[in-house]
Amino acid sequence: MGISRLPIYVFVFFLLSAHHHLSLGDPITCSGIVPTKHRSQMLSISDFGAVGDGATLNTNAFNAAIDRIRNAKNVSEGTLLYVPRGVYLTQSFNLTSHMTLYLAHGAVIKALQDTEKWPLIDPLPSYGRGRERPGQRYISFIHGDGLTDVVITGKNGTIDGAGEPWWNMWRHGTLKFTRPGLVEFKNSTDILISHVVLQNSPFWTLHPVYCSGVVVHHVTILAPTDSPNTDGIDPDSSSNVCIEDSYISTGDDLVAVKSGWDEYGIAYNRPSRDITIRRITGSSPFAGIAIGSETSGGIQNVTVENITLYNSGIGVHIKTNIGRGGSIQGITVSGVHLEKVRTGIKISGDTGDHPDDKFNVSALPVVRGITIKNVWGIKVERAGMVQGLKDAPFTNLCFSNVTFTGTKGSPIWKCSDVVGAAEKVNPTACPELTSTSQQGGYCENQA
Ligand SMILES: *[C@@H]1O[C@H](CO)[C@@H](O)[C@H](O)[C@H]1NC(C)=O
Ligand SMILES: *[C@@H]1O[C@H](CO)[C@@H](O)[C@H](O)[C@H]1NC(C)=O
Ligand SMILES: *[C@@H]1O[C@H](CO)[C@@H](O)[C@H](O)[C@H]1NC(C)=O
Ligand SMILES: *[C@@H]1O[C@H](CO)[C@@H](O)[C@H](O)[C@H]1NC(C)=O
Ligand SMILES: *[C@@H]1O[C@H](CO)[C@@H](O)[C@H](O)[C@H]1NC(C)=O
Ligand SMILES: *[C@@H]1O[C@H](CO)[C@@H](O)[C@H](O)[C@H]1NC(C)=O
Ligand SMILES: *[C@@H]1O[C@H](CO)[C@@H](O)[C@H](O)[C@H]1NC(C)=O
Ligand SMILES: *[C@@H]1O[C@H](CO)[C@@H](O)[C@H](O)[C@H]1NC(C)=O
Repeated sequence: MGISRLPIYVFVFFLLSAHHHLSLGDPITCSGIVPTKHRSQMLSISDFGAVGDGATLNTNAFNAAIDRIRNAKNVSEGTLLYVPRGVYLTQSFNLTSHMTLYLAHGAVIKALQDTEKWPLIDPLPSYGRGRERPGQRYISFIHGDGLTDVVITGKNGTIDGAGEPWWNMWRHGTLKFTRPGLVEFKNSTDILISHVVLQNSPFWTLHPVYCSGVVVHHVTILAPTDSPNTDGIDPDSSSNVCIEDSYISTGDDLVAVKSGWDEYGIAYNRPSRDITIRRITGSSPFAGIAIGSETSGGIQNVTVENITLYNSGIGVHIKTNIGRGGSIQGITVSGVHLEKVRTGIKISGDTGDHPDDKFNVSALPVVRGITIKNVWGIKVERAGMVQGLKDAPFTNLCFSNVTFTGTKGSPIWKCSDVVGAAEKVNPTACPELTSTSQQGGYCENQA
């Protein structure tokens, strides 16, 4: 087998290196942000008694394999855990540091639908409670806490949250605690997720929280349009995050950058910053790219490039609220293509609910330094809804080279309590963004 594979390997290697050396137009990628490691040791989940027949429960096999990795002699070299083709039913499990979870082509790790026995963990301090119900929250299907050097990859195998019973509990109002996410990393560093399909999450799909050094590329994230709160990727109070080359189509925002909410997020004070999101395609009933609505730890230095969305609610949505505090600054979005969306761009100060009634009404968010350029949309119902807060206007907004066409008539802009500039915007933006004293200024400063 080794011999028959060798020429293919050499050929592929040649192709890759030739491409690397000859092509000057290579797109920028996230590579280099997280160190890549060669795993010298390899285990197969089959060696731990796992059976991929879609019926056998494999929780013990996953836990035993990961215990073995945790206690390996050369821990820091790391171990690859191979999941062969087949459907592996399991309850939630925890990953460990220095491991690669590798899903072969046709491998599916599928959540057992046991909402009754699903384990609970403490709420995140920046939320003070579960995001949708008070108190504790269900642990994510695949969970990592305090880890470093973890890779989830393979040949486009699938992690399936089998979320339907959870969505139904939400629909019927019978949830006792906040639904589990599909994959959550908390307080972790050097996390790499690629070439995997994440589907049918009960709640948010991929949630790095209090993390730094997170790379996500070539992932496919799927959930039905009507599945509640199935955000694609939610970098939350995390830094140095790079997300690219992915297809996401879910029931909520595709990528939403967050940092906790209200008095809990303000007290925890951990921002999301230094985040790049590029070459994402998909469709959402809500927003393609969202900042918020949980922004209390602050959100800074987010670069979004080359986003293609169709049949969606909103192209780009920056959202916060009174009581939220936090500052949203240094957000640059460029290269957005939209087809058939309700609202092209929305910036709003009245979005999202509150954890409880103890929020500080004087804690107003600061939104300044937002640049949105090179946006093109067809079949857009409303061009822009840009509405700040009366006591905290949103400032230094720049819209440049933004063109929307509607289906009947030209799509409108609606603005209030905002200050900014608009250059080459069609249809013409509102007076708040086009007054002569502002024109050009902010866009030039932020170019
Ligand atoms: C541990 O790593 C060292 C250095 O890479 C290597 O020489 C040794 O064989 C490894 N031991 C095991 C048990 O893998
Ligand atoms: C998984 O980790 C959580 C905390 O991160 C812990 O509460 C739980 O006991 C762990 N589960 C297992 C099976 O080790
Ligand atoms: C975060 O994880 C590290 C281990 O990587 C641990 O030492 C530290 O206590 C954790 N911090 C919190 C707040 O849990
Ligand atoms: C896996 O999916 C990615 C992203 O959709 C795609 O670029 C890649 O060619 C696929 N790889 C395989 C082995 O199917
Ligand atoms: C902003 O974030 C990018 C990564 O997205 C990083 O390369 C850059 O250094 C950051 N800029 C500042 C001023 O921190
Ligand atoms: C964005 O798309 C443009 C036009 O297709 C291309 O020139 C540019 O390199 C792309 N940028 C990124 C970061 O992918
Ligand atoms: C409420 O927010 C305001 C504005 O940030 C701050 O000055 C004040 O100290 C806060 N009050 C409390 C009780 O935290
Ligand atoms: C304006 O935006 C469109 C759509 O992204 C882009 O194709 C075009 O190159 C931009 N024009 C300039 C002058 O940047």
